Amino acid sequence: MYKSPRGTADILPGEQGYFRFIEERAALLCQLYGYERIDTPVFEDARLFIRTIGPGTDIVEKETYTFDDRSGQAMTLRPEGTAPICRAYIEHGMHNLPQPMRLYYFASIFRYERPQKGRYRQHQQFGVEAIGDGDPALDAEVIDVACQFFDSLGIGNLSLQLNSIGCKLCRPAYLEELKGHYSAHVDRLCSDCKARLRKNPLRLMDCKKPYCQDIAQSAPRSIEHLCPQCKEHFESVVNYLLILGIPFEKNHRLVRGLDYYTKTVFEIQPQGEEGAQSAVGGGGRYDDLIEELGGKPTPAIGFAVGIERIVLNMKQQGVIPPAPSAQMVFVAYLGDEAKAEAVKLTAELRRGGIAVVSNLGDRSLKAQLRQANTLGVAYALIIGEEEVDSRTVMLRDMAKGEQRKVSMDEVVGLLERS
Ligand code: HAM
Repeated sequence: MYKSPRGTADILPGEQGYFRFIEERAALLCQLYGYERIDTPVFEDARLFIRTIGPGTDIVEKETYTFDDRSGQAMTLRPEGTAPICRAYIEHGMHNLPQPMRLYYFASIFRYERPQKGRYRQHQQFGVEAIGDGDPALDAEVIDVACQFFDSLGIGNLSLQLNSIGCKLCRPAYLEELKGHYSAHVDRLCSDCKARLRKNPLRLMDCKKPYCQDIAQSAPRSIEHLCPQCKEHFESVVNYLLILGIPFEKNHRLVRGLDYYTKTVFEIQPQGEEGAQSAVGGGGRYDDLIEELGGKPTPAIGFAVGIERIVLNMKQQGVIPPAPSAQMVFVAYLGDEAKAEAVKLTAELRRGGIAVVSNLGDRSLKAQLRQANTLGVAYALIIGEEEVDSRTVMLRDMAKGEQRKVSMDEVVGLLERS
């Protein structure tokens, strides 16, 4: 028996309502804020991700799905959405268009992680990227999109965590301070943190091991080592969030898992689970990324949310997506002649824009109506010998359990109007 690969899941018809609802709300919101959809390939040149996410990160070191294609070129299945969009921004000369470019996407993301609840090897993200402006008001706009998105889904109990990790001018001195602090405790650090101390000291801050957490708690804070420009930027972002009435918590241990961030970083987490690996969304500024990829210096900010984690939270909070509004009709028949009429009527209804499921094969009326019931259709149309002779059809209101004969020629118009 084959099974879906570890860490992946089939999204069965019964689950699709959640995904459809989330995508519809996201697209509507993006339209409201002037964000346009972009799609990029599922795989890219492997070097794109090594360069942008960072060679010392967990994602690049342990989690990418990388393979040589038949010409021997190393390709990586997209482990995040931002780098491909920056690549596309440069490739298509988007800097020539009015700035910032406001873009959004839905994308499958692939990371070879240890699967657990809310952590998969393939997941879906909805993300937005605003590229080409360094104004802190844009940080607030992007954070506002994220918060409004969760609001529009009806999910509550979330907290917005905010930090600034500075820029290439002020970060090096901060990292030295951090290393100094951790070096004094090196013997008791976990093995991952020992490696981080050498390779990626910023990531020391979000280790989940109890002892390492204690050291992080007393570690120097990036926010206290910002250069005047980053400090002013952070204060402005805070000010705009206050103007927009968006509640947030400053979190000096929030550093994010990708290397391209500068200045503002943020995450949205279920309340009470701050710091756990449960974020439903996260993002930040990446002012150097486009230049690193060979473009002109171009400030940018964005975020992405994990759709499966949102579905988990919706279920936990009892948020049920609205049922699709299409009123579906079931066409039932008895006998060969009636079946020919049923095939014809089904096609006419569909061409009239009415969603229909028709019976197949040779089953009792009882079995057919049972199926209509399970499908939750509004009406069943029943055609038997008598109906064929009189060119009528029995229209059954499934909710009321009442039925009446209507003319075969009028039934499409009747249902169109209902
Ligand atoms: P990220 O924090 O790595 O950021 O991922 C964004 C969201 O995707 C997370 O908050 C989480 O909800 C979800 N997620 C991540 N990994 C998994 C997983 N293994 N299983 C299920 N859900 C997961 C980024 O990817 C950045 N590109 C976000 C960004 C956009 N920054 C700037 N612009």
